[in-house]
Amino acid sequence: MFSLSLFLLSLTTILCIKGFEIDPHDVSSVDEATGLVADGMLDYYAGYEKGGTTGMFLPPAYWWEAGAAWNGLLNTYLATGNSTYNNLVKTSLSYQAGENSDYMPSNYSTSEGNDDQAFWGLAAISAAESNFSNPKANEPQWLELAQSVFNQQVTRWDDSHCNGGIRWQITQFNSGYDYKNSVTNGAFFQLAARLARFTGNDTYTQWAEKAYNWSANVGFIQDDFSVYDGTSIKDNCSALELTEWTYNSGLYMAGTAFLYNYTGSSIWRTRTEGFVNKSIDSFFRNDVLYEPDCELSRTCNYDQASFKGFLARFMVYTAHMAPFTLPKIETYLSKTAIAAAEACCGGNDGVTCGFQWWWMNNTWDGLYGLGEQLSALEAIQGPLLLQNIKIFNSTDGGSSTGDPMAGLYTLTASYAVTELTIQKQHYILLAISLGLFLLVLF
Ligand SMILES: *[C@@H]1O[C@H](CO)[C@@H](O)[C@H](O)[C@H]1NC(C)=O
Ligand SMILES: *[C@@H]1O[C@H](CO)[C@@H](O)[C@H](O)[C@H]1NC(C)=O
Ligand SMILES: *[C@@H]1O[C@H](CO)[C@@H](O)[C@H](O)[C@H]1NC(C)=O
Ligand SMILES: *[C@@H]1O[C@H](CO)[C@@H](O)[C@H](O)[C@H]1NC(C)=O
Ligand SMILES: *[C@@H]1O[C@H](CO)[C@@H](O)[C@H](O)[C@H]1NC(C)=O
Ligand SMILES: *[C@@H]1O[C@H](CO)[C@@H](O)[C@H](O)[C@H]1NC(C)=O
Ligand SMILES: *[C@@H]1O[C@H](CO)[C@@H](O)[C@H](O)[C@H]1NC(C)=O
Ligand SMILES: *[C@@H]1O[C@H](CO)[C@@H](O)[C@H](O)[C@H]1NC(C)=O
Ligand SMILES: *[C@@H]1O[C@H](CO)[C@@H](O)[C@H](O)[C@H]1NC(C)=O
Ligand SMILES: *[C@@H]1O[C@H](CO)[C@@H](O)[C@H](O)[C@H]1NC(C)=O
Repeated sequence: MFSLSLFLLSLTTILCIKGFEIDPHDVSSVDEATGLVADGMLDYYAGYEKGGTTGMFLPPAYWWEAGAAWNGLLNTYLATGNSTYNNLVKTSLSYQAGENSDYMPSNYSTSEGNDDQAFWGLAAISAAESNFSNPKANEPQWLELAQSVFNQQVTRWDDSHCNGGIRWQITQFNSGYDYKNSVTNGAFFQLAARLARFTGNDTYTQWAEKAYNWSANVGFIQDDFSVYDGTSIKDNCSALELTEWTYNSGLYMAGTAFLYNYTGSSIWRTRTEGFVNKSIDSFFRNDVLYEPDCELSRTCNYDQASFKGFLARFMVYTAHMAPFTLPKIETYLSKTAIAAAEACCGGNDGVTCGFQWWWMNNTWDGLYGLGEQLSALEAIQGPLLLQNIKIFNSTDGGSSTGDPMAGLYTLTASYAVTELTIQKQHYILLAISLGLFLLVLF
């Protein structure tokens, strides 16, 4: 066992000829690195393939990660000014909004979770806040898409179990429908906070506060600002699943920073500082960002490999919205950017980014994938994004238009379709199992 793993390690641990040496604050240095890393990420893009779908990445990438990746590439543009991929980002964010302009496209809606929908919603509000090129007038607008996701998730707020919260899954047929978790409620919280700041409509502030209060009361957010994964409604949310993921802390951290920026309240300031302190304590190794639950054991799955990239992204938003956190965040993100770039030296293309950046010895750890690449992209561009990002609101530069009712017109209809399709699939599965059963019997 031991010698086998050593053997595997020696196969996959390859000394880099040359990782990137970047100056994280220099545009041309970061532009060169992000250009290659982004190109590497787009090796996983499905839309270039014959018969491939616009906005989707190749399996095993799930739909949600695509939404997250487009937000990452939008940030590349905001950091470096390189607009090479802007059209791709724009058409992808528009196309995957789906038939009802609510990020519930029928191709994916049967397996879609609330957190999945929220990650696309967050990409849409990012586009609005950065005054990204607006879709054509007859297409849904960025703000409208974000409101659509928010409005639908409000209808899924579930007071009948555990005094509130949103379930992980949207339909009862998916496992996880009984689970309420921090990624779902943290993403909803952040979306509400950003809508509040962008529009100045305090209905969003109220919902953000409600989601935060519930998350703290149920125990997702601890007094020391640890963020736990979730809890099942089967036992009235009495037992917590205690895993701490980087992105869950990041979702709440940036949400509190947006609310602090918008309200100026000392409560949100203290909370922002709490999440920053705790994240730096928990999620950095040798001052470099890492994923404690699975990184050292090399067991992060396809989704989990992308999580720490979102913490880097959310720390940038936090430092910008709450400038008192900037010195601290800047220090850690700079070290992380340098370390991540150094690890991007693997694979056939020589620019595949590994995952264990804290090694800092010019060694690729042999890991690769969309998540690893996206995480590295966010990490490398982080300090420059922090320098160049502008987060507008609807009256000081954000031109995206909205509709407070978005997402509610088609809600009933799309639900009906979803459930019908799933029922049909269940019957087909039932028929197949029955057939197999008969085959085995006779
Ligand atoms: C912009 O990004 C593209 C694609 O990654 C890259 O080929 C190009 O070198 C980058 N820089 C400039 C200045 O266009
Ligand atoms: C849905 O799937 C069909 C068939 O693969 C494809 O043509 C279409 O572009 C997909 N739509 C979305 C929004 O992904
Ligand atoms: C947008 O921000 C400016 C300050 O930059 C502020 O004066 C204005 O009230 C804000 N607008 C909204 C809708 O909150
Ligand atoms: C959140 O909790 C605080 C007390 O901790 C309370 O003052 C506030 O009204 C609550 N907000 C909402 C929207 O429930
Ligand atoms: C959950 O709470 C409800 C209502 O208080 C109660 O009827 C039920 O027995 C509880 N279930 C468990 C597993 O504790
Ligand atoms: C965060 O850490 C600083 C010391 O680095 C400390 O002064 C501050 O009180 C902490 N804030 C919170 C909310 O924990
Ligand atoms: C809100 O963010 C802007 C942009 O970084 C900053 O200038 C302003 O000081 C922030 N407001 C507060 C209350 O920190
Ligand atoms: C780099 O560091 C890692 C982790 O400590 C180690 O496993 C690896 O062998 C090192 N590579 C070299 C070339 O020193
Ligand atoms: C935002 O975009 C609109 C529409 O493209 C443009 O007219 C406006 O100048 C932009 N505002 C800023 C601050 O860039
Ligand atoms: C504020 O948002 C709420 C919730 O979406 C909406 O019902 C209300 O119409 C909005 N108010 C304004 C003035 O847009």
